[in-house]
Amino acid sequence: MIKGKWALVTGASRGIGLRVARALAEKGAQVILQSRKLSGTEKLKQEIIGMGGVAHSIAAELSDLNAVYTLIKKVKNITGDHLDILYNNAAIMTTYREQFYDTPADDYTMSFLVNSTVPALLCNAFIPAMIKHGWGRVVNVTSGIADQPSLLAYSASKAALDRYVRDMVPTLEGTGVLMNLMDPGWLRTDLGGPNAPNDPDTVLPGALVPVLLEDSQASGKLYCAQDYGE
Ligand SMILES: NC(=O)c1ccc[n+]([C@@H]2O[C@H](COP(=O)([O-])OP(=O)(O)OC[C@H]3O[C@@H](n4cnc5c(N)ncnc54)[C@H](OP(=O)(O)O)[C@@H]3O)[C@@H](O)[C@H]2O)c1
Repeated sequence: MIKGKWALVTGASRGIGLRVARALAEKGAQVILQSRKLSGTEKLKQEIIGMGGVAHSIAAELSDLNAVYTLIKKVKNITGDHLDILYNNAAIMTTYREQFYDTPADDYTMSFLVNSTVPALLCNAFIPAMIKHGWGRVVNVTSGIADQPSLLAYSASKAALDRYVRDMVPTLEGTGVLMNLMDPGWLRTDLGGPNAPNDPDTVLPGALVPVLLEDSQASGKLYCAQDYGE
């Protein structure tokens, strides 16, 4: 179903993004791998090419809007403005603020920029062409984090992303483009830290569920990857 489709996975150098990008490539998607440095995705790119797949790497610092606009241009050039799958995965975790009333404004500014504004900009850049082509899958990676005032700048940025999905989904009705949220669960990645209960590999196969939906299936849902354990 996704063989030959173009997919952009942000944050594909490690953790969840790496696993999602590899899994999409194994299903025949042509993948574009973003991280901060080209070297971050080089190994995965070679692995995918080695198995007969198509992979491109793009470096972009997502807190730099000029770099984001350049990323969009490069993806449009590579795909002929025909991106089919947008997997908005990259995000930053803010510092744990023991004294949560003292959380600096910068925590909010940075996390909203990278975790909510940039995913929204990428959606806005690529969804119109998906609608034109009558098919698209957009997955925005959110978080089940709750009751953690020390990480509020991070959780609030994910809430803003959830809201983007909720308010945009009605505009996609009947277009063939489905946009959903994916909560990976708490995983031992660099972002999740060593105390997380789940191995990063447990994000699959659930993380692919919102990509592999039939056109008739719903948009605007929250898919929890841990619900699909093998
Ligand atoms: N792990 C968890 O327990 C957990 C739980 C809930 C939600 N999530 C969400 O799952 C997603 C992936 O998390 P993860 O645990 O896989 O994180 P991770 O292992 O820390 O990987 C983060 C990825 O995002 C990229 N990235 C981060 N900041 C960036 C920036 N400013 N500009 C460009 N690229 C940037 C990194 O690229 P570089 O290698 O170049 O830095 C890396 O590829 C995030 O949206 C996160 O909020 C994770």
